[in-house]
Order: sequence, then structure tokens, then C-alpha cells
Amino acid sequence: MSDNNHIESVLNENRLFSPSERAKKEATVNAEQLAALHAEAGADHVAFWSRLAQEKLQWSKPFTVGLDDSKAPHYRWFTDGELNVSVNCLDRHLDERGDKTAIIFEGEPGDVQKYTYHELHGAVCRLANALKLQGVETGDRVVIYMPMIPEAVIAMQACARIGAIHSIVFGGFSAEALKDRVEDAQAKLIITADGGHRGGRVVELKKSVDLALEKGCNTVRKVLVCKRTAHDIFMKEGRDLWWHEAEAGMSNYCEPVMVNAEHPLFLLYTSGSTGKPKGIVHSSAGYLLGTHMSNEWIFDLKDDDVFWCTADVGWITGHSYVAYGPLSCGATILMFEGAPTIPHTGRFWEVCQNHGVTVFYTAPTAIRALMKFGDDVPKQYDLSKLRLLGSVGEPINPEAWMWYHTVIGQERCPIVDTWWQTETGAHMIAPFPGATALKPGSCTQPLPGIFAEIVDEEGNLITADNQGGYLVISKPWPSMLRTIWGDDARYVSTYYEKFNNKYYIVGDSAFRDADGYYWILGRVDDVLNVSGHRLGTMEVESALVAHPKVAEAAVVGRPHDVKGEAIVAFVVLNSERPTGAERDAIITELKAWVGEQIGPIAKPDEIRFGDNLPKTRSGKIMRRLLRTLAKGEEITQDTSTLEDATILKQLAEK
Ligand code: WTA
Repeated sequence: MSDNNHIESVLNENRLFSPSERAKKEATVNAEQLAALHAEAGADHVAFWSRLAQEKLQWSKPFTVGLDDSKAPHYRWFTDGELNVSVNCLDRHLDERGDKTAIIFEGEPGDVQKYTYHELHGAVCRLANALKLQGVETGDRVVIYMPMIPEAVIAMQACARIGAIHSIVFGGFSAEALKDRVEDAQAKLIITADGGHRGGRVVELKKSVDLALEKGCNTVRKVLVCKRTAHDIFMKEGRDLWWHEAEAGMSNYCEPVMVNAEHPLFLLYTSGSTGKPKGIVHSSAGYLLGTHMSNEWIFDLKDDDVFWCTADVGWITGHSYVAYGPLSCGATILMFEGAPTIPHTGRFWEVCQNHGVTVFYTAPTAIRALMKFGDDVPKQYDLSKLRLLGSVGEPINPEAWMWYHTVIGQERCPIVDTWWQTETGAHMIAPFPGATALKPGSCTQPLPGIFAEIVDEEGNLITADNQGGYLVISKPWPSMLRTIWGDDARYVSTYYEKFNNKYYIVGDSAFRDADGYYWILGRVDDVLNVSGHRLGTMEVESALVAHPKVAEAAVVGRPHDVKGEAIVAFVVLNSERPTGAERDAIITELKAWVGEQIGPIAKPDEIRFGDNLPKTRSGKIMRRLLRTLAKGEEITQDTSTLEDATILKQLAEK
């Protein structure tokens, strides 16, 4: 029994874990200080964020305007200020922490590499100079398609240094997905690697780039290739160049380009319920402030911490909690290239042990997967340095929370369950480790300066406890998305229109309990959440329909005990419904096809065939019926609006 955490009740959902005496004493923000921050933000949230922006960021030109809401719901923060994000992440630490380790890297094969802040600064400057020489200018888009290696962070920071806008495409995405994103962003240059190590294999990134460029991407002038695997690759004369050759002879210093606070720092594509992926646009100053503050508040980063966020830089979590936030705080980050179970199921814990990880941040899907291997695996490793654990990506089920708490955290480490999104840039609802009592499964309460509400279908505030509704954010905040790249109208219609531009609409449903704690219920739209990654049903459906044999397709999520959701696809072929071996062959073919079109995470777990899909008379696919079928449950819903009820029987067949 630990003396650190006081379990006030062991009843489900009522379990409450107060901060330990140690956490209370050590944390930068204690309960009184947190109350003071809430009071300050409540009185004037613009003044609150402005004070923090002045105190926590380094400006080359101070701002005088806090919030410009004259074009609401397009909000702009600190609008007349100027700064450079890479200066805020690197240069400002050089005097005090120049020799401190900024990055500890471990590759999947076990190779280890370290960068001090000085070395990282030099590497970023050399690459920034090389990018300039290749014709990259402020405002140009650079697509980064890399494995999880230090060069990915160097590439991001180098873009930031010269005001180029990066757009990372997750290395697990296919050539097709890469091409769509490159074309939407109209990128001038792609930074990639010859490959990366993942899951015991080499992921052939450069080959995907070649494929994408064969099919289009006409704006791309150059491809910069980092040598990681030394696999044989094709280098196109005049277009492709090696990173190490491009940076050779470059100066270790690159004059930073000071940009306006609102200058886009990056685009990141994320899935919506309909249409093509949205290029979420983030600002420079507001974004940096959000990630800086949340690293300080929620991860409570200290000078001697080793912070490991397991997210790939291809996701927003890797942007805010690997590449930008922790570095702006001067922290030591750990980057790991590989999969959690390669070459053995204790790899994550071994990495924690070997590098003295103190703060560990991962997704419920990983926790559940590792939990399956049993308690004996983590017990073989020394996890005594861990002091704080985090979770992100989907609601963490109480069972996984308790395992994380007892087996990994040894009842010593607070768990910060952080709710946020690609669009929000930084944590929105999350506990302060030294101040907030935890409830397994709840992301607790909004951060100071963040104002969350629950509203009903008409947009009326729900004030009653435990009553579910739409989660909305009622006031703008600095790290919010600014727009969707090239599509202001879609920004308004996706995030604001439904409730007359009054609230930012999150797209999740949630309820608040009697203590004011938030419980996220899931997405309200048709977005899938597979292994903590958002995938639009539309994307998977479009990929299926693009196959010559497929006439129509609908996909839904089904609860899955490791992945959160598994994808079930309902498909209508151009030919007869297949049976037997023919059916098995086409299932294999379609799964592989989706893997090629989008990436392995989008592969359906199950494919079923029907002569048609269940539709209303107006032709709308009735997804709620498909969701019931996918779960293997009887249809008890009203099917009177259904055009042809017999196909439900076909689709119920596994
Ligand atoms: C879900 C990831 C419950 C939610 C940072 C949100 C969560 C979507 C949590 C955003 C959490 C993320 N508890 N649900 N702690 N964190 N989500 O854009 O549905 O990849 O809207 O950003 O993930 O996913 P995204």
C-alpha cells in the first residue's frame, strides 16, 4: 500500500486520487496557485494570456494587441508582435543550458544518439541555411515525411527558423495520402529519409515519395533525403539531394527570420467526417504559448526531467509535446523510433529504465496493448525514476488507468489524462499534477484560460450534472487553429456554424459531473478513432470505392479492446456477392488496397458484402444500423425509413 495516494473511495467512477504530498510540494503549481490562475483568467482571459505571452515568450517586437476578434470566428492573438519560434526553443537556452542534453534518441535497432542544446541549435541552423540555398523562402510550404529520428525535429525547427511553413505527413501514410497532402499544401520541397525502422522492418519512405511525385505534386522542386537505413534508393538527378551533402559547409549559425505572431508555423492534416483531410493551420506565437504553458503546467517539467512522449511527429502530439513545447521549456526529450514490442514486449520499459525517463506520455491504445503481456514484463525493469504519467488520444478506460497507475506508476505517479485535439494545439482539459484530485477515466477540468461548456442540440447550455451533450469552447484561446488551409468557409462551417458562431465546436460529446469534472464520451460525427488516431470514414470509404471492383462502401467503428475502435467495412461490389475462396481473396485484396491508399492503420479489420447498403429513401446511408450490425447485435432500432430491409440480413453475415 502506498502512502502517496489517498484512495478516498474504491467505488467505480467515484475513485478519487488526491495529489500525493510529494506531488503537492514539488509541483510548480499547487492548489492555491491554480485557483489564483483560474481567478485571473476568469476576470479577463485576454489580459491573462497576454501576461503569459509577455513573460514566457521571447519577442523581437513586443505586441500591444492581445486579441483581435474583429473577424470572428477568425481570431488572432498578439497581432502586432514579432518573434521566431526556433529562437524561443533553442537560442534562448544557449547561455544557461547550452551543454544540457536536448534530445536523447534511441533507434529501433538500439542505436543511441544525443544532442545538446548547442548541437541541436547548430544542426538546425545548418539545415535552415541549406533550405535557403535550395530556394525555400519565408511562407513556402515544406512537407516532412520522416521516421521518428532527431532529424525530424531538426527539420521542423529549421523551417520555423526561416519562417517556412512545415506540413508533416505521418511516415505510416501511403504515397497516395502523401500526394494529396503535398498537392493541397502546394509544397515546394519535401524532406524525407531513405527509410526508417519500424516494427522490425524498414519503412521505405523515399520510395513512397518517388511514387507520389510520379503521380503529381507538380509544385515540388527538391527532395532532401536523410540517410537513416543506408538502403539502396533512387536519387533523381537535379531533384533529389542528400541531407548530409546539402548541409556540408553550411554555417552553424542562421539568422532567424522574425515573423508576425500570426504567421503560420505549420499545417497538419487531420480527418473530418466528410471530404478530404483538413489542413489545420497553426500560428506561431499563440501556438507556442499554448504548448509552452501546458508543458510547464501539466507535465510540470523540471530541469532534471527526461520527458518521453511516445507520439510520432506526424501527429499533433508529436508537434506540441516533442518538437516545440518541451524544447521551449528547455527540457530533455527522449525520441524513440521503434514499435513498443520490437524486439521484445518490454522494450518501452527498457527504454524508460535505460534513459532514466521521469515523465512518460502515451496513448490508451498502447497502455492496453502492453497491459495484455502481463505485469511481469514491466516488473523486470527499474521504473523508479518515473514521476508522472500521461495519457492522450481517446478516453482511457478505468481498468487501463488502474493498471498504468499501479504497475507502471507504482502508485507513486499522478496520471494526467489530457483532452485536446489537433485543432486546439495544446491541452485543454487536464489535471495539474500537484493540485487536481484524479478520477480514472476523467480528463478532469479545463486549464486556466480555457472555457468549456456542454450544450444541447439547439446550443442551449446544459447546466445539470451528468447530462451528456456537445462539448464546446466558449472563448477563443491563443493556441487554437486559425483556419483550414485554403478553405476559410470550411473552417467556419466545421467548427462554428452549427451554433451561430457562438462556440468552437469540438465534435466530441461529454458530460460534467457534480464536481465539475469532464468525462469525454467520444466523437459525435463519423470520425473513427483507431489506436488514438483520427480517421475519417470518408477517407476509408473513398479508398475502397476507388478499387475497380467496388461499387459502394460504408465503414463504421466497432469497439476494440486494444485499438479503441476497429474498422468494419460494408461493401457492394460491381459483381455478384462473392462466396467461399473468392470472397476470402477479395477481402485480402481490398485490405491491402486500403493499406496502399491510406496506410496500414486504415486497413479494415473486417469486410462484409451486400447487394446494397441500408439507406433511407432519400439515399442516406443509415450508419447507426451498420454500427449495430458491426457489433454483432440485433437490430432493435426503427427500420421503417429503410428502403430495402432484406439487405440487413446479408450484412449481418460475417
Ligand atoms: C479524442 C489528439 C478522451 C477526442 C491530441 C478528440 C480524447 C480527438 C482525449 C482528437 C482524452 C483526445 N480523452 N478523448 N484525453 N484526447 N481525445 O486531433 O475525441 O488526433 O476530439 O488529437 O481525440 O484527436 P487528435
